[in-house]
Amino acid sequence: MKFTVRPLQTGDLDALLALAQEVPEVPHWTRRDYEGRSGFVAESDNRIIGFSIVRLVVDICELESIAVVKEARSQGVGKALLKAVAVWASLKNAVRLELEVRASNTTAIRLYKSFGMRTEGLRPGYYSSPSEDALLMGMELGPLHACS
Ligand SMILES: CC(C)(COP(=O)(O)OP(=O)(O)OC[C@H]1O[C@@H](n2cnc3c(N)ncnc32)[C@H](O)[C@@H]1OP(=O)(O)O)[C@@H](O)C(=O)NCCC(=O)NCCS
Repeated sequence: MKFTVRPLQTGDLDALLALAQEVPEVPHWTRRDYEGRSGFVAESDNRIIGFSIVRLVVDICELESIAVVKEARSQGVGKALLKAVAVWASLKNAVRLELEVRASNTTAIRLYKSFGMRTEGLRPGYYSSPSEDALLMGMELGPLHACS
């Protein structure tokens, strides 16, 4: 499958909201929550098939959400979205990439580990509905060539 990754634009929000509705693992934000956020979308045949949302807090880049439509999974889209985030964050002089993930979300954890992230902590009972621990994962962001 051919796909491209590009920065998120305001005009993407309807498609992004529809995609997020189909993915129980991601935070279910309103349109307003997404407005003004930074992130990336993956497109194939002019259709959005995945997205990542990030937040920069001083020099730490937090991955807030990442999702790929079911039919496009396990084809490198998630990794490409993560790579776009890491390159963007490095250009913004971020020194670390961090995130929280449900301890049971083994697929996402494998994606993050395959990208070089490590488990750095645990937040007991961080998530609700259902209640679950969060793993804190992170990695240093080196020079851009380290992300290729
Ligand atoms: C997590 C998610 C974004 C991964 O996207 P993806 O496009 O399928 O991931 P990729 O194809 O780029 O795979 C990257 C790595 O993830 C892991 N991975 C992907 N799919 C996997 C699966 N079904 N089982 C186990 N590991 C898997 C592998 O380590 C893979 O690396 P490899 O190809 O070198 O083996 C996707 O499964 C998803 O949208 N899940 C639901 C939303 C979610 O859980 N988001 C995270 C919390 S916000």
